Amino acid sequence: MKAWQTIFMSDSEYIKIRMASIHPSVAVPFDIFVYINNRYVHYLRTGDHLSADKIENFEKKAPDSFFIRHADRAAYKKFIHQTLNSGKLDPKEKAMILRESSFSLVEELFESPDVARALQESREIIDQFVGFMNEEPDSMAYLIGLSSHDFYTYTHSLDVSIYSLGLGQVAGYSGEQLKELGLGALFHDIGKRHVSIDIITKSGPLDDNEWAAMQRHPTYGLKILTEHNATESVRACCFEHHESFLGNGYPQQLQGNEIHPMARIVAITDTYDALTTKRSYNQPMTPTDALEFMKGKLAGRYDQDLMNAMYSILFKMNPNLATQ
Ligand SMILES: [Fe+2]
Ligand SMILES: [Fe+2]
Repeated sequence: MKAWQTIFMSDSEYIKIRMASIHPSVAVPFDIFVYINNRYVHYLRTGDHLSADKIENFEKKAPDSFFIRHADRAAYKKFIHQTLNSGKLDPKEKAMILRESSFSLVEELFESPDVARALQESREIIDQFVGFMNEEPDSMAYLIGLSSHDFYTYTHSLDVSIYSLGLGQVAGYSGEQLKELGLGALFHDIGKRHVSIDIITKSGPLDDNEWAAMQRHPTYGLKILTEHNATESVRACCFEHHESFLGNGYPQQLQGNEIHPMARIVAITDTYDALTTKRSYNQPMTPTDALEFMKGKLAGRYDQDLMNAMYSILFKMNPNLATQ
């Protein structure tokens, strides 16, 4: 576990935000702190701008700990909303701020006890993503270009959600249905809240007992989502994302079309993201290698039409990805 995660969980007075969610052109309407030498130090005061030298300085000193007061949480959300709608940003900057600002919430999905609030607020995030996709034809290319190669449950969840929105759109989903898919993808691994952090962060393969514990996460997730009245599609994305078309998935060993259509999308985007991100015990695959692996070693596990659509999303929208 990283130091800041401990801080985040034990100190509810401050919440972590990402530096890249603050655009340098805009004055911040709240104080910003960095965590250095076991205390929170003022970094920007209300009305200040994030200048280039401050960014550089910050990256050297405390690259992973940028905080606001918990009391300013609503102001932060409003600020992001206004920045995104200011008309000042180009699509690439918008994609960056949208993605980065979503992390505070996505972290909470996995670490805060208030699942109900996280579920509620995540709708706003998905609405913003879908809004961006509707207004900007190349939004997916920008968002996918930003996907992370580091693997943490929340970065993974956000990226799986973004890929799923892209794949869902190509598969014909729109409006509320597309948002349901985005939400379901965001929550697909929420059951990992109940799996030991030592197992989740273990470097190296899991032993039989650990693997059995890990395989319970869809069931735990279903329980959490049912308790909080999530919709049937959101629950299915979570409970069925490790099922396989061949019937050799878990936990129910469903086959082919028995698997919920949205869960078939998340099954693909989840695996793709896991293969292309770095974990402690393996190097990330390139997008091409990951899809070849899914078509070869994992042949038959996925909905073939959706696999073809995944190719078109990754390589037609952003041909540069193919050569990475
Ligand atoms: Fe999972
Ligand atoms: Fe996952």
